[in-house]
Amino acid sequence: MIISIDGPAGSGKSTVAEEVSKKLNFIHFNSGTLYRAVCCYLLDINFDINQIKPDDQMPHFTLKIEYKNNQQIVLVNGKDYSARFRDNLISILCPIVSTNKFVRAVVDKAQRNFAKKHNLVVDGRDIGSFVFPNAEFKFYLDCSLNERALRRFKEEKLKNPNITLKEIKAQLKARDEIDKHKLYAPLVVPNGAVIIDSTNLTIAQVVKKILQIVKI
Ligand code: DC
Repeated sequence: MIISIDGPAGSGKSTVAEEVSKKLNFIHFNSGTLYRAVCCYLLDINFDINQIKPDDQMPHFTLKIEYKNNQQIVLVNGKDYSARFRDNLISILCPIVSTNKFVRAVVDKAQRNFAKKHNLVVDGRDIGSFVFPNAEFKFYLDCSLNERALRRFKEEKLKNPNITLKEIKAQLKARDEIDKHKLYAPLVVPNGAVIIDSTNLTIAQVVKKILQIVKI
């Protein structure tokens, strides 16, 4: 069974998906990490990410998803890049990588293969709309830009004390722009998805709403 949770950056999808998966004894699958892993790989080979266009042919790479000791492991050409996933540079460049149709095709195939063997709560941008349009339950987690920026700012300033709220807000706005207007699989509310606005809700309240609907 697939439960999809889509939404913009910073809407809390990943935290909510993690909680919901624990309650249901499903695997939480974070689709953004696949794009982050590919982004790390492209940086490693000095690929000029800023020049990537949606239809560009990309260097060949393999993408493998494993699940060990309750942990999702993503390997690009056999290498685990997880230590760098949350670097700010990756967050800034990853949306560009995700616009490319060849990257998306490799990522989609890996996700669909993984889903054949597992019950998943998957969070992302195109899960209920493009990757798993037949997901049994679909959610779209929304949140105001201001609130998302505040949440990100609190996290980021622990790693980077010089960062400002204004910068974070500008970065999120730029990411929204790319995510919503990309040529392939843009961020949309999937057909049949339940929209939850988390601006004034706690994580626990969002999780409760989802579990009330899923009831399994
Ligand atoms: O959820 P995240 O911030 O880790 O995602 C990183 C980037 O990957 C995001 O900018 C857009 C892209 N992405 C995507 O295009 N489709 C998904 N299903 C998940 C992420």
